[in-house]
Amino acid sequence: MRFYQLHPQVVVLIGTATEEKENFMPAAWASPLSFKPPLFGVAISPKRYTYNAILASEEFTVNYCTLEMADIVARTGEVSGRVVNKKEKFNIKTRRGEVVKAPVVEGCYAHLECKLKDYFEVGDHFLFVGEVLKFSHDLKDLKPLIYLWEDTYTTISDVRILKPREK
Ligand SMILES: Cc1cc2nc3c(=O)[nH]c(=O)nc-3n(C[C@H](O)[C@H](O)[C@H](O)COP(=O)(O)O)c2cc1C
Repeated sequence: MRFYQLHPQVVVLIGTATEEKENFMPAAWASPLSFKPPLFGVAISPKRYTYNAILASEEFTVNYCTLEMADIVARTGEVSGRVVNKKEKFNIKTRRGEVVKAPVVEGCYAHLECKLKDYFEVGDHFLFVGEVLKFSHDLKDLKPLIYLWEDTYTTISDVRILKPREK
């Protein structure tokens, strides 16, 4: 077990579009960063095709995955867009973003369309900060995909802690 595996994380697919191709990369090191302006951050290794695709296009989408998407997440996370057209190989259904050219992934329960605002070197990753230009969601029957460690995923249970301070 490594230190970063003690941290269950919601999984998103980062969508990019360059003149060459559309691409999708699972990311677990991703988080909202600011209300105003609305900013979202994702840590991306410079080894990833996505790293170059975001720098080239200055845009990306954040697609929140469901439990049913564990298989596609595992598959898109073990090959690089440098060698494979993941959209064709894994039959990923998309539509174009409303305000960015990067693709939005069908079947996800929420989508952010982001314009690259800044990026910073953080050890062996870079923190890409996107300004959220558009946000959509469908939270019906929600089963968010949560990454535990080493190819192991879970989702939330029906247990809800409502307003704990009032009890
Ligand atoms: C569940 C999961 C979460 C991941 N999270 C990240 C992440 O936050 N940052 C990162 O750089 N790579 C992450 N990876 C690894 C990349 O998704 C993987 O190397 C992928 O093949 C890169 O694709 P690309 O080269 O097409 O960009 C993750 C992989 C999985 C399966």
